[in-house]
Order: sequence, then C-alpha cells, then structure tokens
Amino acid sequence: MRKLKVGLVGAGRGTGYGSQFRNHTRTEISAICDINPESLEKMRVTFGLKKSQAFENYDDFVKADIDIIFLGTPMPFHAEQAIKALENDKHVLSEVTMATTVKDCENIIRTVKKTGKKYMMAENYFYFHFIQEWKRIIEEEKLGRIFYAESEYVHEIRNLLRDPKTGKLLWRSSRPPIYYCSHCLGPLLMLLDDRVIKATASGKAISMVKEVGIGAIDMQVGIFETQKGATIKMLRSQVVPREPPLVYYSIYGTKGCVENGRWAHPYSSDITTGILYIEGEDKVARKVDWTYSDPKAPGEARKGGHGTSEYYLVKDFIDAIDNDTKPPIDAVRAADITIPGLIAHESAMKGNIWLDVPHFE
Ligand SMILES: NC(=O)c1ccc[n+]([C@@H]2O[C@H](COP(=O)([O-])OP(=O)(O)OC[C@H]3O[C@@H](n4cnc5c(N)ncnc54)[C@H](O)[C@@H]3O)[C@@H](O)[C@H]2O)c1
Repeated sequence: MRKLKVGLVGAGRGTGYGSQFRNHTRTEISAICDINPESLEKMRVTFGLKKSQAFENYDDFVKADIDIIFLGTPMPFHAEQAIKALENDKHVLSEVTMATTVKDCENIIRTVKKTGKKYMMAENYFYFHFIQEWKRIIEEEKLGRIFYAESEYVHEIRNLLRDPKTGKLLWRSSRPPIYYCSHCLGPLLMLLDDRVIKATASGKAISMVKEVGIGAIDMQVGIFETQKGATIKMLRSQVVPREPPLVYYSIYGTKGCVENGRWAHPYSSDITTGILYIEGEDKVARKVDWTYSDPKAPGEARKGGHGTSEYYLVKDFIDAIDNDTKPPIDAVRAADITIPGLIAHESAMKGNIWLDVPHFE
C-alpha cells in the first residue's frame, strides 16, 4: 500500500506531530507550511525536504500533492484552514481547539459531511495513559453511574500573551482562558461519552497582567450540565503564578471515584500520583501512580512532549483513514468539546447566567 502523504502547517506543533507521522509506517512528510520563513527553513531541514516542498502561502500548500494536513497554526486560523483543506480533498488533523466561533464549528461539520474527508481534533490529553486506564475502569462500570467530574488546567504562559522582547501582543492575548477548554472537557466528555447542554461561568477580572487583553483574565470557572445529567466544573487560567502547571481531573460515580495528582504536569514528571476508590473493593482509597506515558510504548512514542499521547492519537487517526471509520474525536465531537468554552465565556461576560450550548450533527 502506498504511504499517505502528510503536510504540516505551523512549525511548532507541526514539528512535534511531524515526528510522529515520520515514525508511522503508513505516512511520510511531503510538504510543510509556515508564514515565518526562518521557522519554515528550520522545519524543512528537520524533515529533509526540498525547497519546492516548503510553502509560505497556505493557499499554495493546500493544493500540493498530499493526503493529510496537520494544522498546528494559532486557533484563529483553524476554521478557515480546515475548511480549505477539506475542500481540497485532504483529511485534517487539527490542533485544539476546533474554532473560535460556534458558526465556524458548525461550518467545519458541514464541510466534513459534504466532502466525506476525515477530520479529527488533536485533543492529546484524552490520550494520556492514565486517562485511557480510567476509560477501562469506567467501561467496566467500576465507578457506577458518573454524576460529577471536574478538571483544572492552570498554566502560566504570560510570555505567550505579549512577546517579552518586542512587547507585541500575541494571538493568545485575545483568547479568553476558558476558550481553551478542550484539555479539561475533552478527556471528561470522552470518558463520560456525553456532551454539554448548558453552561455558566464566572471570571472577567484582570488584576495581575494589565494592558494585555482578555487573555489575561485572572481565572475563569465554568460549570456545565451534560445531556446524561452529570455536572462538570472546570478551572482555567493562563496568568496565575503556579509552577509546575496544573492538569487535574476527578470523577465521581455512584460506586467510587478517581483522581490524578495536583502536582505534576507532563512537562515536569511522568507520574501524577492520585487515588482510586471503589466501594466494596477498597476500605480506603488506593494511592495510584498514574502516568502520562504508556510504559509499554516504544521509545519514539514519547517524542511529542505530552507523554505517549500524541503517538496513540496519530495512530487512531491513521487507522480511521485506513479503515474508513469515524475518528474518535471527529468533527461532531470536536464541536461538542470546543463550543462549551465559547458559551461559558459569553456567560461570564453577561453576568454568570446559564446559557444553552448548541450541538450540531
Ligand atoms: N495540544 C497541546 O498540548 C498544545 C500545546 C501548545 C499549543 N497547542 C495548539 O497549537 C496551535 C499552535 O500553537 P503555537 O503555540 O505553536 O502557536 P504559534 O503562535 O507559536 O504559531 C505556530 C506557528 O504557526 C505559524 N503561523 C502563524 N499563522 C500562520 C498561518 N496563517 N499560516 C501558516 N503558518 C502560520 C507561526 O509562524 C508559527 O511558526 C494552537 O492551536 C494551540 O492551541 C496545543
């Protein structure tokens, strides 16, 4: 079988995912794109490509002889670039989140339907090894019916809001923290096999990092109600002083609960010690060394920087193309994971009111 040709857009994440595609037996890197000529050249050398395979212009790149486009560009470009890729007969693996407006999420779903191409959102946190272990525990109904879950993603990235050297505002300065909800809601909604129907949120004060914009809101807290009747609480900040960054989840069911640790982010440690408590099996909660990486995965699987998550994510995406099946985080799911954050921010701005969260098929 001939190899699938991959095009990468956006040098940062593109290079990370590129190394996974390069190692996969079914894919090869055939084109790259970045508006920054220096980043493009560095990426070209990394992947050993010819100058003719490197594009500064996305509209030229999208017409290249490739089967798959990985979108690693800033969030505001995702919708337009995904739609152009699909309409040019390419499968799309898009960085998070899907888009920055509800309408754009809907448009991507429509375009996937129209073109029949595969679309997957690269929500890598769902692929953390411990999340996959929790999936098995939940599928075995060890926790009973899940009625509550929470997630906290607190990651100080002030230098990505305003360039510390030039003082120039960067795209994240206009991204409300709760827009970046997929690392919180993605794993939880996938584990619960559920979607959000209502959202409310609090948080519009900017007190720590002034004159940057809405991205510098101190903290946003969202509360979400799901179709199956569960409640989800979520915390998000990109300016709060805290090291290492926090990636935390807990899930409560009628028969038990599970959570990871409050210390480690995959950048700082592979182990995130938490608990598992199953009524009837445990007198007190078991302390568990949950890990971001699958200890059984090959060495190259750890290259993405987030444990082994991106290795398994790319594998699932390629399998969906090869077997003509629905990617695990397809366009409908991607919208279900993205839109609640957009609505939650609207709620926070309107005085913490409850708002309906739309769903598109
Ligand atoms: N899943 C994760 O763990 C994770 C981690 C970091 C970033 N991200 C996501 O990855 C994406 C990129 O984030 P980043 O921090 O690398 O962004 P960035 O601002 O560093 O930009 C990435 C690259 O894209 C290029 N670029 C910008 N606009 C472009 C355009 N219109 N066409 C082609 N190239 C363009 C830039 O020159 C840069 O090299 C975002 O969507 C972000 O949310 C995800």
